[in-house]
Amino acid sequence: MNQPTTARGRFITLEGAEGVGKSTQIQALQAFLESRGVPLLVTREPGGTPLAERIRELLLSRDHPPMHPDTELLLMFAARAEHLRTRILPALEAGTWVLCDRFTDATYAYQGGGRGLDPARIAVLEDWVQGPVRPDLTLLLDVDVRTGLARARGRGEADRFEQEAMDFFERVREAYLARARAEPSRYRIIDAGQSLEAVTRDLQAALVSLLQANGVTP
Ligand SMILES: Nc1ncnc2c1ncn2[C@@H]1O[C@H](COP(=O)(O)OP(=O)(O)OP(=O)(O)O)[C@@H](O)[C@H]1O
Ligand SMILES: [Mg+2]
Repeated sequence: MNQPTTARGRFITLEGAEGVGKSTQIQALQAFLESRGVPLLVTREPGGTPLAERIRELLLSRDHPPMHPDTELLLMFAARAEHLRTRILPALEAGTWVLCDRFTDATYAYQGGGRGLDPARIAVLEDWVQGPVRPDLTLLLDVDVRTGLARARGRGEADRFEQEAMDFFERVREAYLARARAEPSRYRIIDAGQSLEAVTRDLQAALVSLLQANGVTP
């Protein structure tokens, strides 16, 4: 007789441009999910493992000469390959849910929309690194670029991405929104221009149907 198998965990990603509130809200989401008894791994990209965090430093540091967009893209997926294989997939297979601060949608938004790389080339790497793995739900925090950048810059010194000009972030935002509109079943767009409490409330509401579908009381 077959052993009973643990249900695979659900994979949730939090997305949006600089300063929309991802890292702030992920803590509230973690508390919400854990209070419902969901076994949870909270992580981030680029990064999430010691090696991938070192790649993150290379990607965000302002101390390097300019990086070719292809190099940037490949480093993103190198970090992702490590993170996916050594942390995300083992967790999902053990029945742990994964809540990740940015994932491949950010690559389409920044390296695709922002840097202008062909999304078809990103898709090749996505398939190569991830196979069929995609998030079950993507929560997109959306706010006008000026507000997001003002929040991000309020935190202190800008990283390599935060130094980009307004039109770069306009393209990032549009690429995110275009992806969300093209696949509405996977995305929930949250108005991140509201108060912290209102954004938290909308994020929790966006999780209800996924929780119910997995037998968790929301
Ligand atoms: N709804 C909000 N209203 C007011 N301030 C906010 C709101 N959400 C976040 N902030 C503040 O804006 C700043 C940026 O937030 P946070 O670091 O969570 O953004 P992020 O999306 O993680 O940015 P990045 O993409 O740069 O990692 C923080 O100082 C945070 O306290
Ligand atoms: Mg953050």
